[in-house]
Amino acid sequence: MKGACVIGWPIGHSRSPLIHNYWLKKYGIDAIYEIQPVEAHKVAEFISTLPSSRFIGCNVTIPHKETAFEVVSTVDQVARRLGAVNTVYLRNKTVCGTNTDGEGFTASLKQAHPFFRLEGKTAIIIGAGGAAKAIIGALLDEGAEGIGVINRTRTRVQNLQKQFGRSVFEIDEAIAVSQLKNCELLVNTTSQGMEGQPPLEQDLQNLNPSALVADIVYTPLETVFLQRARDRGNPTLGGLGMLLHQAVRGFELWFGVKPEVTTELYELVAADVQRVHQQ
Ligand code: ATR
Repeated sequence: MKGACVIGWPIGHSRSPLIHNYWLKKYGIDAIYEIQPVEAHKVAEFISTLPSSRFIGCNVTIPHKETAFEVVSTVDQVARRLGAVNTVYLRNKTVCGTNTDGEGFTASLKQAHPFFRLEGKTAIIIGAGGAAKAIIGALLDEGAEGIGVINRTRTRVQNLQKQFGRSVFEIDEAIAVSQLKNCELLVNTTSQGMEGQPPLEQDLQNLNPSALVADIVYTPLETVFLQRARDRGNPTLGGLGMLLHQAVRGFELWFGVKPEVTTELYELVAADVQRVHQQ
C-alpha cells in the first residue's frame, strides 16, 4: 500500500499520523501514514532512496529539517529562505523539498480570525529560531509592514535582519514593554510555556488592547501567556491550528486532494493533546 510518513528522532510524540490518517479516511484514499524513527546518520539515505521505497513522500521533524534541506534534489523558494525542509515529495522520481511551517501559521490565523488583515500591520515576534524565521517570512509574504523581534540572543536577530532586510527590527528586551502598544500581532515562537518549561514572562501591561496574541506552543492547548492575554480581553490564537495547517500542503502534494482543517479534526487532535497532558 502506498504511503507517507514522518521522520525524526525521537519521534514517538508526533501527531502527524493522527492528522493524515484522519484525512486519508475522510477522502477515501487507500494509503497509510506512518511514523518512521530515523537517526541522524540515516536521514540522507532515507530521503535519497524514497523513489525506490513504498513511500511517496514524508514530513521531516526536529532535528532533521536542515539535513533534509541539504539532501533533497530540489527545493522551492520558501525552503531555501529557511534552509530547512519539513515536507518531501516526489515529482518524476525527483526528490523535492518544501517548508510549510510559515504558511501553517498564517492559514491558522486566517481560519480562526477571518477578519484580521496582515497588510500594513506591525507584528512583534518573541524568539529568533527556525519557527520565528518561518513565521516572519510568511507574515512578510502576506504584506505585514514591520516585524519587531525580541530575543535573548541578539546575534540571531541580526541574522534575521540580514536575511529579511529593513522590515525586521530588533526590540531590546528592556524596552519591549513600551513597544507593545504599537503592535497588532504578538507571537511567541519560543518553547517557553510548553509543558515542562517555565511560562513566558513577557509583561503585557502596555499591549495594544486589540492586538491579536498567538503562541506556537500547543502543549498545553492554551499557555499561561495566552490565558493572560485573553484575561486582558485580547483576541488569541493557540498553536494547534498551525500544526494542523502545516500538514495541508504535504497531503495535497502526495495524494492530490487539498484537505480541510475541520472542527472535528481540531477536536480529535486536541483530545489527544489533553489525554497525554493528563497522564
Ligand atoms: P525552533 O527551530 O523550534 O524555533 P530554536 O531554533 O532552538 O527552535 O529557537 C528557539 C528560540 O526560543 C530561540 O529564539 C531561543 O532564544 P535564543 O536565541 O536566545 O537561544 C528561544 N528560547 C528558548 N528557550 C528560551 C528561554 N528559556 N528564554 C528565552 N528564550 C528562549
